[in-house]
Amino acid sequence: MLAIAILAAGKGTRMKSELPKVLHPLAGKSLIDRVLSCTQGLKPNRKLIVVGHKANLVEDSLKNYQDLDFVLQQPQNGTGHAIQKLIPKLKGFKGELLVLNGDVPLLEEETLGSLIKFHKECKASVTFLSASLDSPKGYGRVFTDESGLVNKIIEERDCSEEQRKNKLINAGIYCFDWQQLLDVIKLLSNQNSQNELYLTDTISLLKKALHFEVNNPFEIKGINDRFQLSECELYIQEKLKSFWMSKGVSFVDPISCSLSEDSNFGTDVIIEPQTHLRGKCNIGNGCHLGPGSVITNSTLAENVFAIHSLINEATVGKNTSIGPFAHIRPESNISKNSKIGNFVEIKKSFIGEGTKINHLSYVGDSTLGKNINLGAGTITANYDGKNKHQTIIDDYAKTGANSVLVAPIKIGSHVTIGAGSTISKDIPDRSLVVERAKTIIRTKPD
Ligand code: UD1
Ligand code: CA
Repeated sequence: MLAIAILAAGKGTRMKSELPKVLHPLAGKSLIDRVLSCTQGLKPNRKLIVVGHKANLVEDSLKNYQDLDFVLQQPQNGTGHAIQKLIPKLKGFKGELLVLNGDVPLLEEETLGSLIKFHKECKASVTFLSASLDSPKGYGRVFTDESGLVNKIIEERDCSEEQRKNKLINAGIYCFDWQQLLDVIKLLSNQNSQNELYLTDTISLLKKALHFEVNNPFEIKGINDRFQLSECELYIQEKLKSFWMSKGVSFVDPISCSLSEDSNFGTDVIIEPQTHLRGKCNIGNGCHLGPGSVITNSTLAENVFAIHSLINEATVGKNTSIGPFAHIRPESNISKNSKIGNFVEIKKSFIGEGTKINHLSYVGDSTLGKNINLGAGTITANYDGKNKHQTIIDDYAKTGANSVLVAPIKIGSHVTIGAGSTISKDIPDRSLVVERAKTIIRTKPD
């Protein structure tokens, strides 16, 4: 049997934040979410999350997961105290308890699998992940005897100057034999610099303590402050960009761009500086994004061009050009070969093939057919102060500059609207319409 416990009750004082540490995002995903998702393939029988500081916020953030058992630790008297809180929950449980720190987010599932395997093969009481770091600052140091068994872990703040020189650190990821841990977990004392119960003190109380050294020290990087958070962000970003470069995506200035792990790209995509992809994006072959575009949860077909624009929860067909300075808002579907130009906002609308909305327009709650041309400054007036209304424009219609279409309204196909018109009636197919006050010209008196 395998139980997993994630320690996530701490405040994260060193983050200097209102937000609990484990909820800080890394490439768009919270630390705790990352820790939890790397355990999915291990198929544990139990999943326990120790929460305490702002427990509700942490619980809420994980509501998409099933089978989580939240354990409240109040007050937070250290990592050993957190594990004591599991005792009633794990009554009768036999097997391995895998303990994960909620602030170690880059762990790979494969490493956890190897840790458990090694632990079982060695019949150890506990095996924990360790690493040899050039700068071990902030971590507990691991002390072993000649045979390789671990004697003790000493927290950095409790180390002597000599002990601090030890570069072998505790990663905060442990595989315990639960029965044996149960015998010693109640014996912890708080005689240390933080007056807390340290889980690490169980190591010297257990019969056979082993450590399992990881090859890639980044994998076990703990996040205690915002500096470490930014180092991890950089690490993830570099990894993602190198991966996509190897698949045929060019970055003109990679350092200024960021990607999400859930984004996919075709080949020959060019990403210009200051361009960011967030959430789940699918980008087709030959797209040219940026400079200065932010694309979130959207799908772009082949050869879409998007310069200095925001595209959010939208779909864009092939050969379409967006921007500069366009804002495509959620539930918009822009068909192929169309053009959404300078300072244009599209919201919750369908735009047909080959339609052009080139300058200074707002199109909301609308359905536009194909090959339409909206003149500069055409606005769909969709809101009456209370409700939103629909605008329908049929194929081949043309609106003059500064047309206002007061919704609900339907403009027929092949209609031409004269510049400066405010239209609030449906217009039948193939009409020419203009609504404009008469021009009055008088000679001024001297
Ligand atoms: C801990 C280890 C240290 C190790 C390091 C690895 C201890 C005593 N020290 O130190 O040896 O090198 O992790 O990153 O365990 N937490 C609770 N309840 C508490 C206190 C903490 O749930 O009462 C949680 C925190 O939310 C956090 C995790 O435990 O996710 C680790 O706590 P933290 O205070 O960051 O421990 P470190 O000082 O980093
Ligand atoms: Ca930590």
